[in-house]
Amino acid sequence: MTSAWTEPAPVTVRVPAKVNLELLVGPPREDGYHPLATVYQAVGIYDDVTVTPAAEWSVAVDGPYADGVPTDETNLALRAARLLAGENGIEEPVALAIRKEIPVAGGMAGGSADGAGALVACDALWDLGLHKEELEEIARELGSDVPFLVGGGTAMGSGRGELLAPVLTHGVFHWVFALSDLGLSTPAVYAECDRLRGDVPVGMPAAKPAMMSALRSGDPHALAAVLENDLQEAAFSLRPDLAEVLSGGLGMGALGGIVSGSGPTIAFLVEDKEAGIDLAVSLTASGLAADVRRASGPVHGAHVLPAARVH
Ligand code: C5P
Repeated sequence: MTSAWTEPAPVTVRVPAKVNLELLVGPPREDGYHPLATVYQAVGIYDDVTVTPAAEWSVAVDGPYADGVPTDETNLALRAARLLAGENGIEEPVALAIRKEIPVAGGMAGGSADGAGALVACDALWDLGLHKEELEEIARELGSDVPFLVGGGTAMGSGRGELLAPVLTHGVFHWVFALSDLGLSTPAVYAECDRLRGDVPVGMPAAKPAMMSALRSGDPHALAAVLENDLQEAAFSLRPDLAEVLSGGLGMGALGGIVSGSGPTIAFLVEDKEAGIDLAVSLTASGLAADVRRASGPVHGAHVLPAARVH
């Protein structure tokens, strides 16, 4: 009789990018991280992370933003898979394949998304059956934004961004993203924020009630009025051209705009899908941005794709 055992089929997980609707930054902690009060929203630009049983650990990357993603041991998806294996006594390596649609070093959590995607994919491949909270716990060890991308949606982040609480929202918000062809280093932007603040005393950040009511209302005008990012000035200080992109998009009809995370991506909030198409056309024609993408949010976090939808 032949053995009934067959090697598990590859698993593909789709994982979204994020934008911070509010990013309030406190003074640096002793460990160098900054305490945050932030509101994340997951938006529909996705990386796909596929894991396949293999003889050795490896990672390969393709797609429009493959350049600049490390494929050595520093790759966050690879680190995530190895960490999950180590914590669960799994000794079989996997080959990871990442289809990269989220810009690298763009302030949209591209690397963190791949870490979250690898955790969810390996959990399914190895049939571990971990709960979302257990995956988020492991995700915290990989980076401040990784836990949020496990669950997605809209959530408040505190601590260094890794402690999450759900936020009630209504409706769908439409975004246009102006991408830059040069990334910004997150530590450099935080350091510039500290430098610009100098000796001015900075209190502990606290989420603002106006943001919560804007999200509950589902009104993009209300949300546009309360978008706020303490890292924006620092990103503009390192990349003065970004201020022009922001004012350009606002002049072309965006309701509001903000540097996404630590930049350099600029996120514009628009009234509806049609307004998004108009703004994307105008921004592209202006030549202000290296690339322009539209997406809506909130969307779900990392999720396994049915095999038929994998392409
Ligand atoms: O957590 P993660 O590895 O994504 O953070 C990257 C870098 O961003 C950190 O090394 C730190 O310099 C900076 N950071 C910070 N405060 C945070 C989150 C990130 O200073 N809350």
